[in-house]
Amino acid sequence: MASLGLLLLLLLTALPPLGCYSLPGLDTAQSKATIADPILSALERATIFLEQRLPEINLDGMVGVRVLEEQLKSVQEKWAQEPLLQPLSLRVGTLREKLEAAIQRSLLYLKLSDPKYLREFQLTLQPGFWKLPHAWIHTNASLVYPTFEPQDSFSEESSDACLVQLLGTGTDSSEPCGLSDLCRSLMTKPGCSGYCLSHQMLFFLWARMRGCTQGPFQQSQDYINLFCANMMDLNRRAEAIGYAYPTRDIFMENIMFCGMGGFSDFYKLRWLEAILTWQKQREGCFGEPDAEDEELSKAIQYQQHFLRRVKRREKQFSDGCSSHNTATAVAALGGFLYILAEYPPANREPHPSTPPPPSSR
Ligand SMILES: *[C@@H]1O[C@H](CO)[C@@H](O)[C@H](O)[C@H]1NC(C)=O
Repeated sequence: MASLGLLLLLLLTALPPLGCYSLPGLDTAQSKATIADPILSALERATIFLEQRLPEINLDGMVGVRVLEEQLKSVQEKWAQEPLLQPLSLRVGTLREKLEAAIQRSLLYLKLSDPKYLREFQLTLQPGFWKLPHAWIHTNASLVYPTFEPQDSFSEESSDACLVQLLGTGTDSSEPCGLSDLCRSLMTKPGCSGYCLSHQMLFFLWARMRGCTQGPFQQSQDYINLFCANMMDLNRRAEAIGYAYPTRDIFMENIMFCGMGGFSDFYKLRWLEAILTWQKQREGCFGEPDAEDEELSKAIQYQQHFLRRVKRREKQFSDGCSSHNTATAVAALGGFLYILAEYPPANREPHPSTPPPPSSR
């Protein structure tokens, strides 16, 4: 890890953060490979963990794996056309095959452990459900709430019920884009932080993936702008307190969701570096850091202010590995690879098709 840290440190001092309007230095195959290599190594190790613990990984975890698989698909295709990046493209392809096999196997376990939940959310594990961004935008700091509300009213059960209505996968409805008054007020309520906020974002993100454009969904982009501005604010706060452990899961979830929403300013190299250091070297998972790494008081302080304890079907293993943590980590890391492969076309028109990159031969 020491050499990786040093390498990234050198890159950090040499390069502007991702999300600036120009990225000199990150547009060459060599510099892309330099950053992609440690990300891929981390993903390969996390994949071994996921394969080994598959019977215990919950559906939310597999959703992160599907998001990663979609991101890798695009990276593999782009880099296959670039001679210098072809070896990485092959590596990405091998990883994708493993992930696809893992998703298929996990469906069998999920059917046994929670068939109702699987029926309601299986759609989000299907290939093609998650549509990747092709145009990039930035968060707007003027949309940050003056204060955050206390989190008492957020319930995972009501949130799940609203997501099922939206997907149209409940037993009482087959039409997607459903939105009751209760769900509308829950999903557009201002002042949310933590998982309440990220679930509001997830709701409008899925509305987009599902093709919901009528009624309140005409304002989807406005809500997405609002939520991600606040998720950016929370991530900056998490960084400011040294990424105390309870903040890491939501920090990475925010990168996953807002990254999928097309906000390139969530892909900061220093955030990438931080995430890479959180992986447990032996297990390959993400989870609770070893005690000596953590300043507990900071953690508790943050949790009281901004987070509500949510155990969203969470599995915490005895070795400190967390399936939710690992899933959000791989989806966030996949996003870094994806934007690296997309770069430089920031703020360009959506791709008509993948343009042939200039060959170096
Ligand atoms: C940011 O949001 C404010 C308030 O809605 C708006 O007036 C401003 O134009 C936005 N800035 C950008 C760069 O979009």
